[in-house]
Amino acid sequence: MELLKIENLTKIIKKRKILDNISLTVNSGEIVGFLGPNGAGKTTTIKMALGLFSITKGRITICGHDVTNDFENAMKNVGGIVENPDLYQRMTGRENLEYFASMHEGINKENIDGIIELVKMKERINDKVKTYSLGMRQRIGIAQALLHNPRLLILDEPTNGLDPLGIKELRDLLKYLSHEVGVGVFISSHLLSEMELMCDRIYIIDNGVIIGEKSIHQEEETVEEIEYEYTFVTDNNEKTLAYLSSLHADCKIENGGVNVAMKRSEIPDIIVRLVQDNIRIYAVNQKHRTLEQDFLSITTGSKTQIR
Ligand SMILES: Nc1ncnc2c1ncn2[C@@H]1O[C@H](COP(=O)(O)OP(=O)(O)O)[C@@H](O)[C@H]1O
Ligand SMILES: [Mg+2]
Repeated sequence: MELLKIENLTKIIKKRKILDNISLTVNSGEIVGFLGPNGAGKTTTIKMALGLFSITKGRITICGHDVTNDFENAMKNVGGIVENPDLYQRMTGRENLEYFASMHEGINKENIDGIIELVKMKERINDKVKTYSLGMRQRIGIAQALLHNPRLLILDEPTNGLDPLGIKELRDLLKYLSHEVGVGVFISSHLLSEMELMCDRIYIIDNGVIIGEKSIHQEEETVEEIEYEYTFVTDNNEKTLAYLSSLHADCKIENGGVNVAMKRSEIPDIIVRLVQDNIRIYAVNQKHRTLEQDFLSITTGSKTQIR
């Protein structure tokens, strides 16, 4: 089901075209990334989707409700954070949530407790927000955005300033919300590697134009017919290289292992053979193709459908 639909959206501020005819969709149960360098137009798009900015041309609907003409119904279905969560520093996490809950109808204490549990803030919820780490503030911000039980969550660069652990916790939370609860998540970032780990699908925006869309198939990546790059790390890389070279031409020793491009299905027999030759295997690592290459190749070219 389409939760967010942006159609031919254009934004002009002071005669300058900030967004030029962009279209995208977010479905329930998926995390969709909005990737682009600073100044690309991510925050502007998100502000328009949350009704904080007027639309010059085009249309945004949330769960079928037009953000301009049917604002209240559209907003009932979406929760969001733009730039930083808007929290009262001198109030506790719980007081902040209770305060925001009082602005919506029908949110009871059990709902609030459930969300506190969901964002893993139970232990610190009665401490003042000013004592929280950035990651905790971000989680309270997400809790606040989720209070009215929206079907769509929109987050503008939520990982900015988080440490690796904070990013992982956020990723786990968003994956749970989308894949287990069915919430649709639209999340912006300027970091490719982060989007690749977090998202099911990514739109790439540059200079107000969507220049590409890409699906990330986390599991599907390892399809039997496709050749991937693997590194065999063993106690005898010379001997391993000699054997692998008899199967594939382009092997080489690199980063303490033997690098080879081949199909996944070849691995088990190779391992058996190496073990028979008394070679001890420490690891067989698969190298991931990164979005970075795709991103670079398309940001320098014209509008392309990646892959
Ligand atoms: N209120 C505004 N007035 C004028 N220009 C703006 C305004 N808001 C954003 N911009 C411009 O729009 C462009 C896109 O900005 P923004 O949406 O914040 O990008 P991003 O979030 O991708 O970094 C930038 O060039 C920015 O300077
Ligand atoms: Mg921004």
